[in-house]
Amino acid sequence: MRTVHVALGNRSYEIEIGQGLLPHVGAKIHALLPRAATVAVVTDSHVGPLYADTLCRGLEAAGVRAPLLTFAAGEESKNLTTLGRLYEGLAAAGVTRSDAVVALGGGVTGDMAGLAAATFLRGIDFVQVPTSLLAAVDSSVGGKVAVDLPCGKNLVGAFLQPKAVYMDTDLLRTLPARFLHDGMAEVIKYGCIFDADLFADLGRLSSDGELLAAAEDIIERCCAHKARVVEEDERETGRRMLLNFGHTLGHAVEKAFHYETYSHGEAVGIGMVLLTRRTEALGLTEPGTADRIAALLHQYSLPTEVRLAQDDFLRTIALDKKKRGDALTLVVLRAIGDSFLHRVAFRELPAYLPEEERHDPV
Ligand code: GLY
Repeated sequence: MRTVHVALGNRSYEIEIGQGLLPHVGAKIHALLPRAATVAVVTDSHVGPLYADTLCRGLEAAGVRAPLLTFAAGEESKNLTTLGRLYEGLAAAGVTRSDAVVALGGGVTGDMAGLAAATFLRGIDFVQVPTSLLAAVDSSVGGKVAVDLPCGKNLVGAFLQPKAVYMDTDLLRTLPARFLHDGMAEVIKYGCIFDADLFADLGRLSSDGELLAAAEDIIERCCAHKARVVEEDERETGRRMLLNFGHTLGHAVEKAFHYETYSHGEAVGIGMVLLTRRTEALGLTEPGTADRIAALLHQYSLPTEVRLAQDDFLRTIALDKKKRGDALTLVVLRAIGDSFLHRVAFRELPAYLPEEERHDPV
């Protein structure tokens, strides 16, 4: 069992990472939040049938009511309609201000349950139980919660730090390979921006079996990086933006393909490689870096190229919520493990995008 502390004054919390944790999470939540007589478990239609029973039984054994609220799995559920149904479910279950919500699932579940917790009755306590690698290393830590609007992802949200994060690494064993690898793109991102040793260690794993065996260590290292960044810049006014490496181009890829062709991690991987090829050409990044990132992504069956015109990138990036005025901040690598924020005027952006001959209508 590993523990990472997130130091945020009276909003500090622990991330517990270990095998076989889920049956004990109910008792841990009760010990942490003894006033909560009801803890509503929010999950989706994929994860619920696998794990909700274990979590709810653990809560009930600790004397806590555990109503279960399940929504249809998928990013398309992460909207105001589903959020409204969650509010109705929390009200129908008699959840009060001293109670809590626990998110059991991946990033969509954590984001949506977290926003429900941040706003229901003007805010109640919230616990994250991530079930995907991506949620374990990224979305369950740091307090960003949100739903999508038809015009863009995560446009309605809040910052609500969880009271605790419990990651049972056994749950990763039921993840389809594509989703395990999806999370690896975010793991590789930590190596790229902060940690050349992690990047090298990931290159030495030769199978998914070895990856799963190393999961506790990998998740702890990623969460420790995320914790330090969030402690320094909780509201993302500076250093936390480094976590967005690959995301500006990646979001454009996801959106251009209507969120159907590429998962989030796959699109971020493509974004990291495409941007780094350009920043190498611009002399900002050590030569060979993009090839090293691409080779590591390939090792985890992740794509590294896309056929998309510059105009498609530019149209989507123009709507990016990270854009401020007529410029945006890109995350650029000097080398593997060494990143910086780079402000780019919108008119200069084409220099940072894949070259035009890739055009192919989508
Ligand atoms: N997913 C990036 C962040 O939490 O800031």
